[in-house]
Amino acid sequence: MCGIVGYTGTHSVAEILTEGLARLEYRGYDSSGVALEHANGSGLDVVRRVGKVSELVDELQNKRLLGAAAGTGEGAAAAGDAKAATCSTCGIGHTRWATHGRPTEENAHPHTSCDGRIAIVHNGIIENFAELREELEGRGHVFKSDTDTEVIAHLVEEAYLGRCANDAAATDAEAPARAAGTHDLVAALRLACERVTGAYGIAAVCEDEPGVIAVARKDSPIVVGTCERGSYVASDAIAIMDATRDVVVLEDGQFARLTPEGIEFTDASGAVIQPEMTHIDWDMDAAEKSGYPDFMLKEIYEQPRVVRDTLTGRLAGGALAIDELGLTLEELNLIDRVYVIACGTSYHAGLIAKNLVEAWARIPCEVEAASEFRYRDPIITPSTLVVAVSQSGETADTLAAIRDARIKGAKVFGITNVVGSPVARESDGVIYTKANKEIAVASTKSFIGQVVSLTLLAMLLAQVKGRLRQAQVRLLFRELGDTAEQIQRIFDTQEPAIHEAALACEHASSALFVGRGMGAAISYEGALKLKEISYLHAEAYAAGEMKHGPIALITPGFPVIAVATKSPTYDKLVSNLKECEARGATIIAIATEGDEDIRAIADHVIYVPPVRDAMSPITATVPLQLLAREVALLRGCDVDRPRNLAKSVTVE
Ligand code: G6P
Repeated sequence: MCGIVGYTGTHSVAEILTEGLARLEYRGYDSSGVALEHANGSGLDVVRRVGKVSELVDELQNKRLLGAAAGTGEGAAAAGDAKAATCSTCGIGHTRWATHGRPTEENAHPHTSCDGRIAIVHNGIIENFAELREELEGRGHVFKSDTDTEVIAHLVEEAYLGRCANDAAATDAEAPARAAGTHDLVAALRLACERVTGAYGIAAVCEDEPGVIAVARKDSPIVVGTCERGSYVASDAIAIMDATRDVVVLEDGQFARLTPEGIEFTDASGAVIQPEMTHIDWDMDAAEKSGYPDFMLKEIYEQPRVVRDTLTGRLAGGALAIDELGLTLEELNLIDRVYVIACGTSYHAGLIAKNLVEAWARIPCEVEAASEFRYRDPIITPSTLVVAVSQSGETADTLAAIRDARIKGAKVFGITNVVGSPVARESDGVIYTKANKEIAVASTKSFIGQVVSLTLLAMLLAQVKGRLRQAQVRLLFRELGDTAEQIQRIFDTQEPAIHEAALACEHASSALFVGRGMGAAISYEGALKLKEISYLHAEAYAAGEMKHGPIALITPGFPVIAVATKSPTYDKLVSNLKECEARGATIIAIATEGDEDIRAIADHVIYVPPVRDAMSPITATVPLQLLAREVALLRGCDVDRPRNLAKSVTVE
């Protein structure tokens, strides 16, 4: 949810950190900050700002810690390319999404020890922070923020010095055991981690150990990498992949000691270990807007490619091929109940999967928010398949639900976009969605990748159960692939209609999305997209439910957005829309090309190519994404970074 970046080496660190933080900003953007070691190694500069990373950059420039003023002879764009002369070459940075404590400068990271000699940045959540804080305050520690994170800075301080820096009385003579201190940053961090419960990715610096960054990880991603310029740490490889594409993804309980010369890895007992390297093979384009005005539009436009890439290699010799399944076909054949567990947009992909699994494979399928599933007592047997859907592969609720399901004996199948992510690692099998890095907070291309993957899974289950013959599977597979071109056709032809429809929503205070069957599932995603990025209140309803309550909301001009593609329930939906029309609603219909009749009741029509109902989530969702973006822009919103949201939610 937050982002960490750190560097120690031969180049100017301020540029490297701010460039890295800007890349991580999609993960959290309430506030940001850096701790920079003084160029002569005699202290730390901690600079923090509320708001976007650009605010931090301005402040660093004002303080002459960044750019030419810092003595590099290069601007921020050079990202530390100049050899450092008089500038700092070791530091850590953070971009925050507030959990404990409001987004203020005091609560922004880095947090420091009492004497300011140790600074830390942290992702995750410290569950026992209240007890620890009370205990530490009892020993003289003075807290400067409301965050859970700050306890770590004080715990590290105490382990490092053997006492609180404020407590002048606690001399070696009075408290010999504690007062010894580790005087070793990694060892002190290890001791601190032993005291905390919760999730953490931590990077720490200490002015007594110039050039050293200590790193720890538990349940919150951390990658480290090294090259001839020095050593890097980040919570997401995107921040450091310009420097190196060979990284170590730390496992839970592992620690790293970064120096300009390299990285030493240790385990929870302090023993030296040699973890495996991972090569990042995705394209740096993912981190750039490549000429698009925002990441959201770029990612929406990537969706034809996502469909193609997700399907590549999935049909071999006329049969579906999902090698990473982790389950034998015999095991699959025994499956008699499916749960899809997910959060947010991924949950909506699950609603679509339910329709497909039940229609094709005739297996009961329930879809549940992972945050609920984990605290219920769902009926799970060894023949239950739990499908965990998560773009990031690190959503805390989804992970907890996976663990719970496995303990109860279910087979767990992950659908994720991130290779090697916790969801991938903790599932029995996995399908990767090939969406590539998604930066805009509101998920678009990942959703399409998830729907394509879930469609494949439903086809496979149906095939294994003997409900779909191979020829039918091949036909469906071809039609699934055809959606790539159909999405492109929407881009090519529907922009004016989408803009007109957006104007009808611009000044609304609320909107309703309706559909039936697949259309209802699509509506939920349409409503979420609109509220996430335009802050226009939106709800989705199965259209048949309108008359049981929501229709009371309709007044003249109230926008009703209907997924009205040709489907078995099309006529029923039209009747529902007539009831809205009679009460003056402004109706925006997503309809099938060639459907002129819909114009009789719809004020605005956005056409999508004709597809079978099972494929309609792919084509009909795309105009809803574009509509949400257009409304958000008309309302002056930042479509890539909507307020209060985070791209990946690693806390409960
Ligand atoms: C956050 C994001 C959503 C996303 C949800 C689930 O709320 O803002 O866009 O759908 O998390 O994330 P996941 O990575 O598990 O799909």
